[in-house]
Amino acid sequence: MEPALAIRQAAAEAAMAGHSHYTQVSGTLALRQAVGRALLRDQGLAYTPDQIVISAGAKHALFNAFSCLLDPGDEAILPAPYWVSYPEQIKLAGGRAVVVPSSAEDGYKLTPAKLEQALGPKSRLLVLNSPNNPSGAVYTEQELRALVAIAVERDLTIVSDEVYQQVVYPPARHVSPASLSQAAFEATVVVSGVSKSYAMTGWRIGYLASPDPQLAKAASALQSQVTGNPTAVAQRAAEVAFGLPKEATAGQLAAFTRRRAAVLEACSAVAGARITPPDGAFYGFVDLEGCLQRWHETSTDAFCQRLLAEYGVAVVPGSAFGAPGAIRFSFAVADQVLAEALGRLVEALSR
Ligand SMILES: Cc1ncc(COP(=O)(O)O)c(C=O)c1O
Repeated sequence: MEPALAIRQAAAEAAMAGHSHYTQVSGTLALRQAVGRALLRDQGLAYTPDQIVISAGAKHALFNAFSCLLDPGDEAILPAPYWVSYPEQIKLAGGRAVVVPSSAEDGYKLTPAKLEQALGPKSRLLVLNSPNNPSGAVYTEQELRALVAIAVERDLTIVSDEVYQQVVYPPARHVSPASLSQAAFEATVVVSGVSKSYAMTGWRIGYLASPDPQLAKAASALQSQVTGNPTAVAQRAAEVAFGLPKEATAGQLAAFTRRRAAVLEACSAVAGARITPPDGAFYGFVDLEGCLQRWHETSTDAFCQRLLAEYGVAVVPGSAFGAPGAIRFSFAVADQVLAEALGRLVEALSR
């Protein structure tokens, strides 16, 4: 059966079988076991079910992690470009995001030297997101080892958002920082979910996994007062998704690979636009510093508004991600829509 159908059928069967009651706050045992098996299968990470908390999406799992780990005034090292919700969630948790910028020259990655520079007496955690939204950067094992060594030495907790772990373009490959050593395992909170890997954004199932027994307990206690368990029927659907073999998502990856090639080809045709080929995720992230003067604009915010109004193409200004000179657009859209949008974007940027 087609993977998407198997997932839907599991949910339909669960609904018809009367799975309409509360589950354990941290998710059903069956789902936590399925997540544990997937983490072991994909990354060699061994967690017990009581070290895993299922939440309403990776976003909710991240919020739980920041809320439980940060005390007022604690600092979280946040490499830019970053996903939009990190700084806001860190703020909501009473922490302070210490943003560390990067550029196309660094491949939009945090370097050990920049990490060292950003550290201070209040540093409490490091946010890593590989593959990255918005840049598509994927850290190599070697790069991660250097960052993790510093984090371990400085007693930081690593919050590793791996929600795009299945969307990686070879030869790049996904490595979890938690997999690098026992010390790295202990220092890392892994966050992921079904949204991106199984195209299940609306089901709202994510998780955190941590060997720190206090963290899973605290996240569950927090969740019990705020949302309770995630939807029972969606949990059953996610259980099936996490059990799918890797080949089940091969069709999706092939489509993204095709669209990625179209994006790279289109952007390479524009003088002054600089695209760093994404090693993962499904976003085009383009530095427009060399193009904006043709639009008589100094910011990509204004450019994005005009692009939407004049060309009907929606892209997100880099200011949302802590990288104001760039724009981001998603290529998780049908090939024809993408082709039309790319045509208009190239026309706009080339004028
Ligand atoms: C980097 C990153 N983390 C987390 C999320 C949230 O995932 P979920 O839909 O599981 O809440 C997103 C969604 O766009 C994302 O890009």
